[in-house]
Amino acid sequence: MRIDVFTLFPQMFAGVLAESIIGRAIGSGALEVQLHNFREHATDRHHTVDDYSYGGGPGMVLKPEPLFAAVESVLGAPPACPVILLTPQGKVFAQSDAQRLAELPAFALLCGHYGGVDERIRQRLATEELSIGDYVLTGGELPALVVIDAVARLIPGVLGSEESPAADSHSSGLLQYPLYTRPPEFRGWKAPEVLLSGNHQAIARWRRAQSLLRTLQRRPDLLNKAEPSEADRRILEEHGEEG
Ligand code: ADE
Repeated sequence: MRIDVFTLFPQMFAGVLAESIIGRAIGSGALEVQLHNFREHATDRHHTVDDYSYGGGPGMVLKPEPLFAAVESVLGAPPACPVILLTPQGKVFAQSDAQRLAELPAFALLCGHYGGVDERIRQRLATEELSIGDYVLTGGELPALVVIDAVARLIPGVLGSEESPAADSHSSGLLQYPLYTRPPEFRGWKAPEVLLSGNHQAIARWRRAQSLLRTLQRRPDLLNKAEPSEADRRILEEHGEEG
């Protein structure tokens, strides 16, 4: 998988991309991230990338020419892969988007900065707009790293089998069940007996029930989308009042 990132601040990416699972994915060749500073494509003496907003108002606006030139020089015209603009106006990024992007051979991320981007970038260069949540950051760099991280860990072979994404919160549409490890008792607080029982069926039932109840209590909005089975509904009805 190849991800091309267009940013004014490529140094913001170095630390995150070098460490841990993402660092390993890049080291193994499963993931390639190419950073492009589109200021290099500004043709005037001062390498200007932004300008005042037509019509007035606060905040500078990213000019179209340097970003179009950078993207087209790397990806062709029109670009050969999806081009995703990070913006608080985009669709809110979800695990389902990470899964969809993880199946692509390549995509590009455009990081805005300052007040916003010229509308022609949004309409004529980006094929999709993503937000990482309903808050405003100083630029698209941290959101781009969030997308890269969420996608990279879904590329086959990037996580070891012990870190499998199948049990993640959200991959089933439900929140993850509670996890315990040794010791069986810590400061008098015991791990649930069933997890030490060796009874795999009973463990799977307990985990499913915990996932359902935790989702009901914390994120009831997710429950309908997760399409609970008949057995799931019985668990929710039995325990629902405890919420
Ligand atoms: N740029 C600034 N804030 C953002 C957000 N919440 N998501 C994506 N891009 C952004």
